[in-house]
Order: sequence, then structure tokens, then C-alpha cells
Amino acid sequence: PTPAIGIHDLSLATGHFVLPHATLAAHNGTDVGKYHIGIGQRSMSVAAADEDIVTLGAAAAAPLIATHGSDNIRTVVFATESSIDQAKSAGVYVHSLLGLPSASRVVELKQACYAATAGLQFAIGLIRRDPTQRVLVIASDVSRYDLDSPGEATQGAAAVALLVSADPALLAVEDPSGVFTADVMDFWRPNYRTAALVDGQESITAYLQAVEGCWKDYTEQGGRDLEDFAAFCYHQPFTKMAYKAHRHLLNYTGHATDEDRAYAAIARTTAYNAVIGNSYTASVYLALAALLEGEQDLDGRPVGFLSYGSGSVAEFFAATVVPGYRDALRTQAHRAAVDGRTELDYPAYRALHTAVLPTDGGDHRIAAQTTGPFRLAALRGHKRIYETR
Ligand code: CAA
Repeated sequence: PTPAIGIHDLSLATGHFVLPHATLAAHNGTDVGKYHIGIGQRSMSVAAADEDIVTLGAAAAAPLIATHGSDNIRTVVFATESSIDQAKSAGVYVHSLLGLPSASRVVELKQACYAATAGLQFAIGLIRRDPTQRVLVIASDVSRYDLDSPGEATQGAAAVALLVSADPALLAVEDPSGVFTADVMDFWRPNYRTAALVDGQESITAYLQAVEGCWKDYTEQGGRDLEDFAAFCYHQPFTKMAYKAHRHLLNYTGHATDEDRAYAAIARTTAYNAVIGNSYTASVYLALAALLEGEQDLDGRPVGFLSYGSGSVAEFFAATVVPGYRDALRTQAHRAAVDGRTELDYPAYRALHTAVLPTDGGDHRIAAQTTGPFRLAALRGHKRIYETR
């Protein structure tokens, strides 16, 4: 029989700094209730000047390699929508920083916030061909919108690394998947811009349309009934969006649109996203971390995943929580990372946001800020130079 394949271990990393929404509200005159209740966000992680998707991705993945070694990791998939290079995969830098075997393939995947789920599915396909190999899937993003734009309150910076293998300790991923693609311009970032462009209301509508689309395909492919699921992990650009999406799914499937039921189902998945902000590709797996590290006992229970990436592509899939999963969690390290962030005041946040990396190809040292394990130390001849702290 085919062995169970899925997530064996999960580790997260966050940007070094944190900006409370109360600070943003005091600056721009917004009632803080709009942030705390209206979009469901308390604070956002902000990357230090010497952090980027590579340092965050490597910081997330390092504990997995420390625990499980790197033997048989033959593929590294790096998912991001805040790429640092048009040609070279950010994963190659991580491969180097972590000393992974040269007998491996490394690739970067992009489709807005969805790409890590594509990476997970590709990993499962590879492991089905050869159950002895393991795949490292890294989701890493620094979310940036223009200052004083509506999207500003939904920024964030974080990475999640997943070790995918046969006979996993956390989560066995099931067939089938429900998939959906529609060409919409709800959110995009042209190559010449460092901040994303977004049509906020259009993006919410596009997300809800994608929920319908991939659920419809999931049921047509013979998926589980909605009632089977013990919990749901949604992509959370802001945590209120997960409530909106779940309420929409309940409504679409003919269930009463019950606010309390939608809130109760989603509340267990928002602990990290509410204080980290939008981490794009990592967001739905931060929802998973919050769920597994919470109080509910999920031994043997099915969880539904809704992964959405603007533009747009979405996928609904189910996974069963492996009995005994609690022994494989990294709850303490994750909470320490989030609690250990350094708070920014508004001027310091604004200075970080407006700082631009030099593009002249000269030799530029970057002052040390982060206390994370890896840092971007210099730019030299248009090359990024990383170091292990
Ligand atoms: N107290 C409590 N609630 C309040 C309030 C107050 N004082 N003031 C306003 N609110 C509520 C509003 O009623 C509204 O709630 P509902 O959505 O339930 O009606 C909520 O706060 C937000 O208010 P607005 O819609 O007026 O907010 P806005 O237009 O200024 O910005 C946003 C909201 C469009 C989401 C904006 O933050 C944005 O553009 N974000 C980036 C795009 C995004 O995240 N889109 C999500 C879907 S796309 C996706 O998922 C991919 C991705 O990652 C980008």
C-alpha cells in the first residue's frame, strides 16, 4: 500500500521588528477598532534592514535540519512573491547557508500567496515516486504596501519551513484536491516596484469567488463532506478574511450563515497571523501552526485547507492530523520568536519602509540589526552577501 505522505515537521521564523496597529492608528487617525475588530489585526512583523526572504527562510528551515539532518533531502522548493532576483532561486542561498547536499534540486515557485501549496503538492508527487526521499518546502515573504495606503495595515514578514516526507509525524495529506484559476487583476507587483498594488474590494470578491470555485471542484472530485472537518485553515491576508471566507463557504454549501459558527471554526487558527500580519505564502501554514499548537485535540481528525493566491489560483485540500502529533510541535520556540520581536515606534518603521538598497553595484556593508541566525551582510558587485551570525 502507498504510505501516508505529508508534513513531518513545521518551523516558523518572523521579522525582527514589530509594529503594533495602535501605533499606526495613532499616526494616521484611524479608529484602532477598524484594525483590531474590522480586519482582525493587532500588530505586524517588520523585516530588519539586514533581513529578507532568504534570511527568514533559512531561519525557519535551520531547526528542521538540526533535528532531522539533511540526508535524502533531494529537493528544496522556495515559494515567495517577494522575490529578490529574477533568475536565481532564493532557495539556492538557503541551500548554501544550511549546508544541504549538492545532490539536490532547488527551485523558486511563484503564484502570489498560493505557491507554497503548489510546492507541497509537488513534494508529495516526488515522494510518491520515491518514498525514501524528503522535500524541504519553504514559504517566505516580506509583505509591503505603499505608506498611507489601505493595504498598509495588512503588511507582515515571516517564513514557514515544512519538511515533507512519507510516514509524517504531523499531517497526512489526502487526495483529491479542488483547484481553481481565474485571470483577475486584484493584486500584483510589476517588476519595477517594491510594493504591491492592490484593488482591495476586488481582491476580497476574487478570494470569495475562488473559495466557491475550488470547493465545487473538490466535491466533483469526490472530496469529503463539509461536516467531516474538525477545523479549517484559510489563507489570512488579515484574519477577518478567513471568517468572511468560511461564512461564504457555509452559505455556498447551503448551511445557515451563522456568524458564531464561522467565528468558532476560525478563531483557533488566527493566533499567529493576527500578530504577524500577512506573510503571503506562509500565511495558511501559520494558520496550521496556530491550530496544532492550540488546545483542541486533533488526533486522527481531518482539517480542510484553503490556499489562495491573488491573480488568481486557489486550492482546497484535506489532511488528517497524525495521532501523537503534539510530540512533534515546536510551540515554545515559535512563541519565543514572536514574543522576542523588538517594537518599533512610528518614525523608525517609516525609515525602514522608505530605505532602499543601493543599486549602483558598489561595495556596501549593511549595519547589523537582526538577532536572527542569518543576516544580509553586504551588497557587492550587485551580489547579496549573507552571513551566519
Ligand atoms: N470598528 C470596527 N470595525 C470597523 C471600524 C471600527 N471603527 N471601522 C471600519 N471597520 C470595519 C469595516 O466595517 C470593514 O468590515 P467588513 O469588511 O466586515 O465590512 C473593515 O473594518 C475594513 O474596513 P474597510 O473595508 O473600510 O477598509 P479599507 O477599504 O480601508 O481596507 C482592505 C481594507 C481592502 C482589506 C485593505 O486593508 C487592503 O487593501 N488590503 C490589502 C489587500 C488584501 O489583503 N486583500 C485580501 C484578499 S486578497 C488576498 O487574500 C491575497 C493577499 O494576500 C493580498
